[in-house]
Amino acid sequence: MNFRELIKTAKAMVANDKGILAMDESLPTCNKRFAKLGIPLTEEMRRVYRELIVTTQGLAESISGAILFDETIRQKIKDGTPMIKVLIDAGIIPGIKVDTGAKDMAGHPGEKITEGLDGLRDRLKEYYQMGARFAKWRAVIVIGDGIPSRACMEANAMTLARYAALCQEAGLVPIVEPEVLMDGGHTLEKCFEVTEEVLRIVFNHLYLQGVILEGIILKPNMIVPGLACPKQESPDEVADATVRCLLRAVPAAVPGITFLSGGQTAEMASARLNAMNVRFKSKLPWELSFSFGRAIQQPALEMWQGLESNFHEAQKSLYHRAKCNYAARRGEYNASMENI
Ligand code: 13P
Repeated sequence: MNFRELIKTAKAMVANDKGILAMDESLPTCNKRFAKLGIPLTEEMRRVYRELIVTTQGLAESISGAILFDETIRQKIKDGTPMIKVLIDAGIIPGIKVDTGAKDMAGHPGEKITEGLDGLRDRLKEYYQMGARFAKWRAVIVIGDGIPSRACMEANAMTLARYAALCQEAGLVPIVEPEVLMDGGHTLEKCFEVTEEVLRIVFNHLYLQGVILEGIILKPNMIVPGLACPKQESPDEVADATVRCLLRAVPAAVPGITFLSGGQTAEMASARLNAMNVRFKSKLPWELSFSFGRAIQQPALEMWQGLESNFHEAQKSLYHRAKCNYAARRGEYNASMENI
């Protein structure tokens, strides 16, 4: 295992106030988002959409790395250049989603366990040879009546840790993503409590599996109230709660924390990340960054609608959202940036 390369990659993923673009939607997720907009659910349309993203001029001004899906890492843009080469040539580090999805957990109604460990060592070897330098695995934790159970948190944490150890062995930086979902009417305090417990369990398992913390990136949820909770705290309150929770549970050896957006609006995700960096940037042991999917892509996807005539406008929208989040990392985002 080459620790030096791993640590260098992890640092580069959160350097210079840039963040990560998640463009690794699985087939069912991508199809669901296309279907809502009437975009044909074909491999070619997914290829065109991913080409739209990777060929956006200037994306690398704000984006350090992009997470790809297995289909995309094997695809080419229309001039025949592999997507992954387009990213590398732009100075964007390519990454790859390697889990095979969150499935119903046996004996635990309403809870999920993420699959994908079988054969992972060989898949990681191939992805490294293709040029990927980091990977992603998402665990899903649901808040509900009597859940999450300890069994669900432990099983997902152990799986994340085994994935992370395999990634490091293969020279890939693991993005460790335990996502506590926003679905439901729970309070911000409940999200805090569950997220703290999940993170503590995850770091315990990472330690047990011998994972080098300097060579991982943590991708957590922000501490937010459930989408159906009547009380919705301000960005400053979310920022305070999120940083307080992370300071309790995330070791200082971790180089960076890159949030998922999880269904927040694009503007809300930028405002909350900005509030964290305004209030705490110079005081924290790790970089506070983004690894947004929907909060960067959704406005562009809605603008594109699968039409060639909207291709360049959609790229402008993508570029803009990436820039807003770059500004949020610097504590320089404000709502007037949205008036374009
Ligand atoms: P969202 O930012 O849309 O939540 O996606 C991030 C991600 O990669 C989820 O695994």
